[in-house]
Amino acid sequence: MESAEYHQALALLHWQIELGVTESICDMPVNRYEVPSVVEKPKPAKPAGGAAFPTFTDVDPVAEAERAAKGAQSLEELRAAMYAFEHCELKRGARNLVFSDGTPGARVMIIGEAPGRDEDREGRPFVGRAGQLLDKMLAAIDMGRAHAQAPVYITNVLPWRPPQNRDPKPDEIAMMKPFLARHIELANPEVLVIVGNWSAQALLGKRGITRLRGQWTQALGLPALPMFHPAYLLRSPEFKREAWADLLELKAKLSRG
Ligand code: URA
Repeated sequence: MESAEYHQALALLHWQIELGVTESICDMPVNRYEVPSVVEKPKPAKPAGGAAFPTFTDVDPVAEAERAAKGAQSLEELRAAMYAFEHCELKRGARNLVFSDGTPGARVMIIGEAPGRDEDREGRPFVGRAGQLLDKMLAAIDMGRAHAQAPVYITNVLPWRPPQNRDPKPDEIAMMKPFLARHIELANPEVLVIVGNWSAQALLGKRGITRLRGQWTQALGLPALPMFHPAYLLRSPEFKREAWADLLELKAKLSRG
């Protein structure tokens, strides 16, 4: 028979869902107000009879990322290298590595910023509301993902969802950039589409998408077109006109060859 405690807990859960809670982080509740009676100092770990193991503070995560990324000879190997990369804190809070979608080898590679909640759940980039708008935008120039052989390949600067969708931090961008650069090399697109400010920061070293959008530039040796992020267009639909102009510019560039 189910106990009163069970029904109380269930009622509490329903109440939290009504308040808007969408996720629970741990299986067990954590009392963050509890003061531990003894605070242990972390001891450096030592192998038997030898010097201390290197701690993460001894490791340069960017150099590690470069080494891991360079070692990948295919997109599958790159995905595996990113999956195994332990230096980015975001990995610990994310459900899934969000690697890519679309057709590897497509002429156009779209670089978004970071997964949101829906992408984190599905492990695919741009599947939430912003992604649906991106799909409509691409379909309008006959380049949607619904095509059997989608004429685009899509990834993000960061493969893990930042908590509460906060902005990426500069050190997170810096440590994941070698993977992004290798991803672009292996996917071998003709042009890049850089969506949003954080993607512009990662690939062009600057933000200010309102100024940058619609102007062809170079990123990692490839022609690159910065555009407004579809999430921004959802909040500010008055800028869809500019986004449309940029899509037409992309289409024109592809037909120029
Ligand atoms: N926004 C992004 O930049 N990327 C995604 O995958 C989803 C939303």
